[in-house]
Amino acid sequence: MQFYEVIKNRKSIKEFKNTSLNKDSIARMINALMMSPSWKNNTSYKLILVDDENEKDILSQSIINDTDEAAKAIKEAPLTAVVVADPSQSGNIQGKEYYLVDGSIAMEHFVLAATNEGYGTCWIASLDEDKVRQTLNIPNNYRVVAMTPVGETAQNPKSKPKKDVREHVYLNIWGEAYTENESNKMM
Ligand SMILES: Cc1cc2nc3c(=O)[nH]c(=O)nc-3n(C[C@H](O)[C@H](O)[C@H](O)COP(=O)(O)O)c2cc1C
Repeated sequence: MQFYEVIKNRKSIKEFKNTSLNKDSIARMINALMMSPSWKNNTSYKLILVDDENEKDILSQSIINDTDEAAKAIKEAPLTAVVVADPSQSGNIQGKEYYLVDGSIAMEHFVLAATNEGYGTCWIASLDEDKVRQTLNIPNNYRVVAMTPVGETAQNPKSKPKKDVREHVYLNIWGEAYTENESNKMM
């Protein structure tokens, strides 16, 4: 897939077929994750791949503040990818904790690679961290960043509308819209 096609095709997917995943695809997705930039190249994150039905079941029950959709997605999809990160292995600048950035970049590399491989994903961060930690035996110094189901999609939703670029992209100074919307032409 062409890069911008991958960007366009990534959507949050909540319905999955329980078909098995291609091992070469998974290997490429893992490589994409491992190529992520990270604070001082410390790679403060770890990826835990979960294909055990019982564990996936408990992970689905760890989801909070949500309808049943995300929980169902975790149960249905053949794989759940959980990204965790250790704050002590990343930066803290004026209270900004960069382990979340390390972990999020890693997750997004993985997610975009999954899209390129034709699989659906959905970032899930509304979760009971202790439950996830206990289920996967994650050491206490690691924080759970997010998880995503991975699998063949059973739905093809339209892309959700995104905000007006002029309200989010400025030139030289806050509030001054970058008017020549070349970014839209790119897609
Ligand atoms: C950091 C982050 C956390 C998210 N957490 C959840 C979540 O807990 N549950 C959920 O259903 N979707 C979650 N999402 C998915 C967003 O709701 C979704 O990306 C957004 O609605 C835009 O839709 P799109 O991904 O199809 O473009 C999360 C996304 C991000 C980036």
